[in-house]
Amino acid sequence: MPIDPSSLSETEIARIKRRIDRPIVLIGMMGVGKSSVGRKLALLLDLPFTDADDAIEQAAKMPIPEIFERYGEASFRDGERRVIARLMEQAQGVIATGGGAFCAPDTRALILEKGIPVWLDASVDTLLERVSRKDNRPLLRQGDPREILTRLRKEREPFYSQAPIHVRSETGPHQRTIKAILQAIDEWL
Ligand code: S3P
Repeated sequence: MPIDPSSLSETEIARIKRRIDRPIVLIGMMGVGKSSVGRKLALLLDLPFTDADDAIEQAAKMPIPEIFERYGEASFRDGERRVIARLMEQAQGVIATGGGAFCAPDTRALILEKGIPVWLDASVDTLLERVSRKDNRPLLRQGDPREILTRLRKEREPFYSQAPIHVRSETGPHQRTIKAILQAIDEWL
């Protein structure tokens, strides 16, 4: 797939793709763009893309807010761990995880062991701007979204920072973030 000329060449992309032997797992806060960046990255690499939140909803046959409401967060985390364990069995692909997934010890261990974990990070202002486009996040319904995002980002940073790859995704074209991810993966592998 052609990408913008200031970016990596197709030969470069093909070379990096050949080195990728595990699923690329995007982790990070709600609204950072894991799903949209992940989808584009998968398209570029011609690999399957899975949104773990969608896979959880399919397995549970209900939307995430309803899982939280009916069964609570602990039960959601349990389902999330099982779904991600199944997704990690694929040899190659791009997986976008929900913001809390990497903070659960078992899920984190699994991703660290079997995947290429990439922490996508952005400022609270950027996150806030992006989460305001959708109202499907139960954790943001519990108070002021700015306060919640600020607190969660701080609490979760010690976990996210265990990912070997850290890429910032502020405003600007996703192609820039994708290029940074591929270069960082190439350096790390
Ligand atoms: C959550 C993030 C959501 C979803 C759930 C819980 C979190 O996914 O998994 O609402 O704990 O941060 P996104 O990060 O895709 O919004």
